[in-house]
Amino acid sequence: MTQTERARRVLDEEFGPAGGPVSVVSAPGRVNLIGGHTDYNDGLVLPMGVDRRTVVAARPREDRTVAVRSAVFGETASFDLDAVEAAVDGAWSDYVRGVADRLQGRGYDLGGAELAVVGGVPMGAGLSSSAAFEVATADALAAVAGHSPGGELVDVCWEAETEFVGLNCGIMDQYAATFAEPDSALFLDCRARDHEVVPVPAEAVTVVVTNTNVQRDLVESAYNDRVATCQEGVDYFRDALGEPVTALRDVSLAAFRDHEGALPETVRKRVRHVVSENHRVREAADALRAGEFGRVGGLLNHSHASLRTDYEVSIDELDAAVAIANGLDGVLGSRMTGAGFGGCVVSLVRSDAVDEVTAAVHEQYLDETGIEPDVYACTPDGGVRRHES
Ligand code: GLA
Repeated sequence: MTQTERARRVLDEEFGPAGGPVSVVSAPGRVNLIGGHTDYNDGLVLPMGVDRRTVVAARPREDRTVAVRSAVFGETASFDLDAVEAAVDGAWSDYVRGVADRLQGRGYDLGGAELAVVGGVPMGAGLSSSAAFEVATADALAAVAGHSPGGELVDVCWEAETEFVGLNCGIMDQYAATFAEPDSALFLDCRARDHEVVPVPAEAVTVVVTNTNVQRDLVESAYNDRVATCQEGVDYFRDALGEPVTALRDVSLAAFRDHEGALPETVRKRVRHVVSENHRVREAADALRAGEFGRVGGLLNHSHASLRTDYEVSIDELDAAVAIANGLDGVLGSRMTGAGFGGCVVSLVRSDAVDEVTAAVHEQYLDETGIEPDVYACTPDGGVRRHES
């Protein structure tokens, strides 16, 4: 049974069979090749959609209730569209309430709906299952009410994530889940909110993700703490440069070098990472376009070193996974991806070596850490999609 069929079946099983039209929508997880912690600094990133998707089947109902069955959690939640509470209790249904609230806040006239969600994006695996969930449920609610928000889904879902769920994240995940392209990465400018498509030729290279299966509790507070320190950097450079500086994106490498001595150590390190990482993303996009995959790999390695020593968001297990992968034949480079303090490592691997590399990373990581990792090759997949009914 396909995921689409499963979603329809869950819908019928939970809410009873009905004759009305069913909309089926899916959105992918994502992995970011390079550009760690640059998105909320108005910077550059290079994410791609992955071939693991969240699927939502939805149909209208007569009243103003939205009822959602999650096959992932085995739970059903419901709320009234006229009284969406800004509840932040950590429940998965926060996301659905969040996107419904934001769609309505942006003038979309929604109607009651029944939704069934089938998850294909592993949770807590650094593939942003939450953005896939937000984008798929938002578009399903819109589809049922006869709307097509298109690119506005990015803002709807980003606002839901920051306002309802409470993470001060950038737009990368929601953007990738909306706009990803098959067989490609997106060179995304988070300030312009615009992207160029950069092909990732499958015959040459494959992206392999290693989930360390470590997740520390402090991710959220450490993340919001990094956001705040970057803001201190912005405040310094706004005063020092006498130019409009609204984000670290506005600080050049030259300006950073002129002023680094005046910055407190922590601010200096965080700013150095962000400013240098933006350069690496630009260079990696150029190298990928030119087919210089070894150069892309080298940039991934530099990115990891900078995230570890300057941004201080890596942990031993991430460093171990990077070192193990990079010690293998056919691996061009690796780095931690996502927020850090656990989660995933992304490696760029010669396609002819993928099977050996995934097996060896699995074995050696388990050996070294005693933790069983998940290691998988990713095929770049497209963004949110409405399926034929
Ligand atoms: C998390 C956030 C993203 C991004 C990354 C770090 O995945 O959701 O917006 O900031 O961390 O690059």
